[in-house]
Parts: sequence; structure tokens; C-alpha cells
Amino acid sequence: MDKTQNDMTPHDAAEALRWLSEMGADEIIGESTVNRLVAPAAKATPAVARGTAAPAAAPVVVAPGASATQYQSLAEIRAALEGFDACPLKKTATKLCYADGNPQARVMLVGEVPDRDEDIQGQPFAGRAGLLLDRMLAAVGLSRSAQDRESAVFITNTVFWRPPGNRTPTEAEFQMCLPFLLRTIELQKPDVIVCLGVTSAQRLTGKPDGILKLRGKWVTTNVSGRNIPLLPTLHPAYLLRQPAHKRLAWRDMLMLRQMLDAH
Ligand code: URA
Repeated sequence: MDKTQNDMTPHDAAEALRWLSEMGADEIIGESTVNRLVAPAAKATPAVARGTAAPAAAPVVVAPGASATQYQSLAEIRAALEGFDACPLKKTATKLCYADGNPQARVMLVGEVPDRDEDIQGQPFAGRAGLLLDRMLAAVGLSRSAQDRESAVFITNTVFWRPPGNRTPTEAEFQMCLPFLLRTIELQKPDVIVCLGVTSAQRLTGKPDGILKLRGKWVTTNVSGRNIPLLPTLHPAYLLRQPAHKRLAWRDMLMLRQMLDAH
């Protein structure tokens, strides 16, 4: 017979914990265990893999009825997200990871999903990928800590809480965050948007292509009637894994610089 939690010896429990840790589990998300080998009774909402197409073809799809237009400032959006219990990710995340940088910035960067460092610090791009991002920005005269709007950037994400164990957010979780992202764009009024990685690029362009196809080309996205130039580029975490592609990201940064200088 299988051992249940209650008849485990301390040695068994320590071994089980060590095994889980070696398998990559780095946090507890429930009090009781779940047998994931038993088929669920009802089919769950299908997860959309990070890096796959957004389900709808039209640009910027918002769940029917979902809206965040009642919020009149970025501070109000942050406060609403702090109290937004509808998103299951909020229950397992340590901190909200909404935005960083200067709200007056001409450039808005939209990342993907918070990771461990962001979950601990409560700000986007707080870890190694963030350090690389800061260096990429500095190379073209931009910084998230700059006070003047010309050289500042504002950074936000597509999803505002770290999924447990870094799993891919479900489509429902993406859709819950999207109205807040769109309202953030409306209120921050960036001159240009840079999408860091395929997730935000697909969500904000409506194009299903991979990031190597999307990157390096300006497109126009329309958010609430306002046309905004948008440039998809490679995610810094991807560049840490594929350093040979840094040259592509560098080209994209130069395109961004040229666009800012020209307008
Ligand atoms: N990757 C992202 O896309 N966003 C973060 O905040 C951190 C890592």
C-alpha cells in the first residue's frame, strides 16, 4: 500500500522533499497533495503555451465585458490589481509585479510573465534578465531610472503575477490581465511600445508568428483608437540562453533609437 502523508517517517519526508526540490519545485502552493495522474472530471480551460499564437486573429483582443476603464491613473490600476482576487495567480504569488520605470517615458516596454526574482521584489525585470535589459537600454541612451521622459522607459508585463513553478499562464489568466495592460497603455500614452518576447508581441499585434519573424519590424497597434508604433524584439531571458542572437537585439535597439530620434 502507498504511504500516505501521515505514515511517513521523518526520513521519508525529508527524502520526498529533496526529490521534489531536485525536480524543480521551489514553492508550496497548497496544503494537501493532488494526484495529477487521475484524469480531471471536467476539461480545464486549455493553456496557451508561451510562444504560441494568441487565439484570435484581430489585434488586441479583450475578454467580452472585461474592462478597466474605471481606473483613472496608473496608481489606481496598481491599487485595483493589489485587490484583484479573481486571478488565481495572485493567491500563489508573493508580490504583485505591475510596473517599473518612469510613467512619463516616451517608451513603454511590455515583458511577459514575472519570474522568481520579480515575484520576490515585486517589480518587472528584477533578475539577471533585467540586468541585461538595463545594459541594452543604456547602449541606446535609455534607462528605467531616468527622470527626463526622453531617456526614460516605463516597464510593465503581460501577466502581473508569477505562475506557480513558472508554469505557462492559462488563457483565462492572460485575459484577466489584458484589460489592465490595455488601460495602462491608454493612461501612460507611450510614443512607442517595445514588446520583449513573443507573448506580448502576439497579444499586442494579434499576429500568431514566432518572435524571430515578428522582431525587428515596426508595426502599428491600435489601443482604444490611438495608433502606436510597436517594435517586437527578443526577450532578454532568451538572449541569456542564446547569446549569439544579441546582435539581432542590438539591431532592434538601434531601430528604436532611430525612431525616437526621428519623432
Ligand atoms: N520576464 C518578463 O517578461 N517579465 C518580468 O518581469 C521578468 C522576466
